[in-house]
Amino acid sequence: MKAIGTLGFVLLMLAGALSYGQTSMINVYGRNSTLLNGKWETIIDPFDAGIGWRAIYKDAKPTGKNDFLEYSFDENNTLNVPGDYNSQMPELTYYESSVWYKKAFNYQPGKNERLFIHFGAANYIADVFLNGKKLGRHEGGFTPFQFEITGLVKEKDNAVVVRVNNSRVKNGIPGFGFDWFNYGGITRDVHLIKTHDVFIDDYKLQLDPADNSHITGYVKLNSAVAGKQVSVKLPELKIDVKVTTDGKGYAAISLKRKIRLWTPDQPRLYTARLSVDQDSISDRIGFRTIKVEGTQILLNGKPVFLRGVNIHEEIPQRKARAYSDADALVLINWAKELGCNFVRLVHYPHNEYTIKQAEEKGLMVWEEIPVYQGIDFPDSTVKNKAALMLREVIKRDKNRCNVIFWSVANETGPSKDRDRTLVELAKEAKMLDPDRLVTAAFNNVSYHDGKMELKDSVMKYVDVIGINEYMGWYTDWAKDPEKVQWLSDFNKPMIISEFGGESVYNNKIDTAVKASAWSEDYVVNIYNNQIKMFKGIPFLQGVCPWVLVDFRSPVRMQSTFQKGWNRKGLLSEQGDKKKAWFVMKEWYDQLKKTNGI
Ligand code: GCU
Repeated sequence: MKAIGTLGFVLLMLAGALSYGQTSMINVYGRNSTLLNGKWETIIDPFDAGIGWRAIYKDAKPTGKNDFLEYSFDENNTLNVPGDYNSQMPELTYYESSVWYKKAFNYQPGKNERLFIHFGAANYIADVFLNGKKLGRHEGGFTPFQFEITGLVKEKDNAVVVRVNNSRVKNGIPGFGFDWFNYGGITRDVHLIKTHDVFIDDYKLQLDPADNSHITGYVKLNSAVAGKQVSVKLPELKIDVKVTTDGKGYAAISLKRKIRLWTPDQPRLYTARLSVDQDSISDRIGFRTIKVEGTQILLNGKPVFLRGVNIHEEIPQRKARAYSDADALVLINWAKELGCNFVRLVHYPHNEYTIKQAEEKGLMVWEEIPVYQGIDFPDSTVKNKAALMLREVIKRDKNRCNVIFWSVANETGPSKDRDRTLVELAKEAKMLDPDRLVTAAFNNVSYHDGKMELKDSVMKYVDVIGINEYMGWYTDWAKDPEKVQWLSDFNKPMIISEFGGESVYNNKIDTAVKASAWSEDYVVNIYNNQIKMFKGIPFLQGVCPWVLVDFRSPVRMQSTFQKGWNRKGLLSEQGDKKKAWFVMKEWYDQLKKTNGI
């Protein structure tokens, strides 16, 4: 598939042939914004009755002698935002329905000022109201959305009301079935963002894959205003230029500079400031190139082997969705300690703190949209929902140099509708961001007499093939691991995006003989065998154990060992290192020594 390259992309953008649609403005943390986090008043609505005639969004109060209302927000019933609601009240543990949130705030308008309310994420459907008026709806639990409230907001006692519903839906992304905990609620930061009439909606600053000293990119204003001077400053690189927008509010950026490249060992970031009129944004940006050449992955032109681990966005000790910088540090530091230079964030876009902590700490990232297993591909709305999620995450994170993969799916079974949808998503990702690699995780490898053959037709449309295989756990070893042959006609790099087995930390029941003993020794065997097999795969360019730490899943119902947890973690839910952790760390340390990066 012919990549158009950043210049081609900017030309298409300039021609308005490409847009991110109604996605939120980029980089809310680098703007003039205030957080609306904290305690929000809430109403739990298990029958989802509040959206009908009761009209909870009106936040009405009884006025006369005879009228009354059968709902009310008050300061005694609150939930923390950000935060999932399931972990905040025992009666909400397995809750899958609606919760109404209300936050009151005052606002001092500035001259020519615009105001937006921005949500980092809310799972799964969010209907947002301000002062009784509907602002809009967002579907999808892991990507940002915003609404403009200029002209609707009052100086005093504004009430933003949000109905969040985490029911699983057939044509949802994900669909009905998934192997993680369905945390609902306003799960990420809420910002009030002040801008001016004209503001910077989007920008990209990255390296030209063909030239390590050529920074290319663009800046796009919120409206099609020509002749606007946009200032672009990177003080540490002594860059201080102005670019002028065209009739569509776009301006291309092209700068030549000697740059210290971002690498896992030296994750160099540069301060960047962009401004137009009174509107300005600050960012920390690293520069690197990533591409494939045959079966190799090249970081800054050098072959790299990805020492990865899979991570869910959960803090097991708190049995809760991770949402803060401190949470991100817990997960990212564990991955660093394991000896990783790469993390696969599964199976949905994680919060920005995690992406940024990984960038600061030198970890390359695989980001994925939750097109996961049983998706209702024949449903005509599914493709658009998935495409919007892809646009939302690519717009949000395209300036994070550590993000090297956009993954469009995980373990989806081949079918006409599925193939068509995944191919279109892969093309869209490439179109929106030609400088990054597109991938997906497949588990339909045909396995016959010790030969693993990559055959899925969609593999043709990705840059790197991710394979989930559970030899030794869900599948028996048909042959000695080092004799298993991997066959591929795709001449592309492959990553083992998942492998592993379940064990309970410190489980002394039985030894390495039985899977059903959930024994650590049994899993140590799996890891040793997998590593033996990895060493024999010519086009293998990375591996990702499933999974960094035990995580909660309602489909894990084995009452002695699982108790609602997927136990394939290298760490227990208390962060204890299982025996397999040390097997992986030892191998990663060896690889680091051998490969250098
Ligand atoms: C699958 C899937 C994961 C799941 C894992 C498992 O491959 O991608 O989401 O948790 O296997 O079975 O543990």
